[in-house]
Amino acid sequence: MNALAHPSHVAHAARTGAVLTVDLEAIAANYRLLVERAGGAVVAGVMKADAYGLGMDKVAPALARAGCSVFFTAHVEEGMRLRGIVPAASIVYVLHGPPPGTSADFIAHRLVPVLNDPGQVREWSAACARAGRRLAAAVQVDSGMSRMGLAPADLDALGDPRDWLAAFEPVLLMSHLACADVPDHPLNARQRQRFDAIRAAFPGLPASLANSSAVFLGPDFRYDLVRPGAALYGINPQPGSANPLRQAVLLNARIVQVRTIESGAAVGYGARHVADGSRRIATIAVGYADGWLRALSGRGAAWIDGVRVPIAGTVSMDSITLDVTAIPDARLQPGMTVELLGPHQHVDAVAEEAGTIGYEVLTRLGSRFERRYLGES
Ligand SMILES: Cc1ncc(COP(=O)(O)O)c(C=O)c1O
Repeated sequence: MNALAHPSHVAHAARTGAVLTVDLEAIAANYRLLVERAGGAVVAGVMKADAYGLGMDKVAPALARAGCSVFFTAHVEEGMRLRGIVPAASIVYVLHGPPPGTSADFIAHRLVPVLNDPGQVREWSAACARAGRRLAAAVQVDSGMSRMGLAPADLDALGDPRDWLAAFEPVLLMSHLACADVPDHPLNARQRQRFDAIRAAFPGLPASLANSSAVFLGPDFRYDLVRPGAALYGINPQPGSANPLRQAVLLNARIVQVRTIESGAAVGYGARHVADGSRRIATIAVGYADGWLRALSGRGAAWIDGVRVPIAGTVSMDSITLDVTAIPDARLQPGMTVELLGPHQHVDAVAEEAGTIGYEVLTRLGSRFERRYLGES
């Protein structure tokens, strides 16, 4: 049974503005689906930004139980935290590589840096020389996104990889796609071709190119290891096609007040919403300080008993006003909860209304919510 379809487990968020429920079973099921789709490639789990805002202390062990043993973080600090959470044999990569002076942290916590520029190659080579052993590292190359990784000029400057790779233990050659969520974007094939051309100089080194969306671009993009993040958390990797993944996040916000207003009454900051008749307004205890974007002012909605209740007026820091006229009075009590994310409202739909992407909605979800985890062992 899909627990998210039956939110009866959500008690009143009496002390907080809302209850955020993370379905770890759904995340594990999404991992298993990605393993199926990865066609034999290793499926890593991307844990940066605290597992996209969902809490890596719970998400990473759930993924480990589902069979995941390779994880990616962005920063050294995140990697150090994750090392204390995942099973000892897990591999923990740090995507941003080793900033000067951090190699001791990498070694102490057995973190594997992703080397992105000649300075990081030199930093890690020097750390290996000091340690007296060749320590594992991934090498990232820029295949056309111009964001991270060794650029063609860097590769030229470094010279023959057989020389500079000898200073450490290279374990992965990786790159990242700019447009994987648009399957027929011409840059996908161009980046893959550039990646293949670069790979020719790194014979035998396992390769990785795919994020969530690229897992679905076909076998040519999967190589030896894929690095999904968003898809684990239920974000649709192929906007425009049906989402094959399970929804993993539920957000239920508490109603603080309900009032009736008459025609002509203004609602919220800036008086941007003016009632065009007698309306019922419910104020909920979630606002932009909780990550419910101000861009949703007058655009987004919440749901009560499967009925859409639109946001009326501006999203405030700690509260939002909803037009709940369509809901019978007897149902509306201060303390009851309304659905902001759940079976009727997917994170991707909220993102679209806010003019952003599901990644931003998830990673902004606030620290003030009561958090519950389904499927914790
Ligand atoms: C280098 C790299 N690999 C993998 C990922 C995971 O991407 P996604 O969440 O789209 O699966 C990211 C996230 O942006 C990334 O920067």
